[in-house]
Amino acid sequence: MKKSISLKPYNTFGVDVIAKNFSIACNENDIFEFIDIHSKNNPLVLGGGSNILFKKNIERPILKINIKGINIIDEKINHVFVSVGAGENWNDFVEWSLKNDFGGVENLTLIPGNVGSAPIQNIGAYGVELDSVFESCNAISIKENKLKKFKKKDCKFSYRSSIFKSNLKDKYVITNVTFKLSKKNHSINAEYKSLKSLIDKRNIQKPTIQIISNLVKEIRTKKLPDPKIIGNCGSFFKNPIMNKLNFEKIYSTNNSVPFYKISKNEYKIPAAWLIEKCNMKGFKSGQVATHKEHALVIINLGEATGLEIFNFSKSIKNIVLKKFNILLEEEVNIID
Ligand code: EPU
Repeated sequence: MKKSISLKPYNTFGVDVIAKNFSIACNENDIFEFIDIHSKNNPLVLGGGSNILFKKNIERPILKINIKGINIIDEKINHVFVSVGAGENWNDFVEWSLKNDFGGVENLTLIPGNVGSAPIQNIGAYGVELDSVFESCNAISIKENKLKKFKKKDCKFSYRSSIFKSNLKDKYVITNVTFKLSKKNHSINAEYKSLKSLIDKRNIQKPTIQIISNLVKEIRTKKLPDPKIIGNCGSFFKNPIMNKLNFEKIYSTNNSVPFYKISKNEYKIPAAWLIEKCNMKGFKSGQVATHKEHALVIINLGEATGLEIFNFSKSIKNIVLKKFNILLEEEVNIID
């Protein structure tokens, strides 16, 4: 257990704030002990730090989850059930699956962060969301200090959200996640626009899960900055979902707006497009900017403070609100 440390290595924005009380859990017992001491002090659970913005020094006790292990716990004719420690790096798990020829997570290649955080925000990319491979997870209640199993239906997954981000926010510590992966006859998801156009361009007839993973790697590395090199948390805002009437208002003046029709009356449009239309792609202010290849990614140019990044994000939000009357919602977790 460490006491007072800098959180710079623990958040991919690379913000240098001090945590007054910082512990690491390598197993469930470490978590039980931590909760015994700190449950009343509003503890903060930290995964890979890839979706979090610290605005200032943190007084709350922090528990960094470092539980490791990737184990096959059951097998059926077509599927395998794999239990993964919450502290495993997400992409290491994806690579392990590909090496074993287990399918389902290939579109989620290179998403930063840890396995335990993946269900909280139902990570998603290139046409696949985590809930499609999620079987269950174990989590410890901070109030009762007891382990509970959550099945898929308990988690109430939706676009970039789950029960752990809504009703049960900050109430549980996820310790491990069980995934259901395909062993054969993998169903390939190749319909996402940028993925499909690369497949067509290369004239790939039968993409395997390994090919899909490599193509996703290629697309991601071209558009999204590597957090090891440039501090960032991927998409800063969620893509807004609106009703048909509001969508048509935007469409009537901008018929080039990209959109995904979610249901009869629901449309999702890319926040990146809205920001770009406000001439904010590649926009820089002090040590903060939007990425020149992707307007939705806010980057730390070096020594930005959490507050500077937050204020920058607020000004983007205001500009989009003024021009489009759409209030963007943060995808990144902001910690006061
Ligand atoms: N676009 C712009 N300007 C830009 C970038 C994109 O106008 O600077 C438009 C383009 O028309 C493009 C469309 O936005 O076709 C969608 O862009 P992209 O495919 O990059 O996806 P996104 O909607 O911006 C979402 C996720 C990403 C995920 C990608 C790929 C959210 C908030 N973000 O981004 O997730 O990698 O799809 O599936 O849903 C993350 O959560 O941190 C993240 C990076």
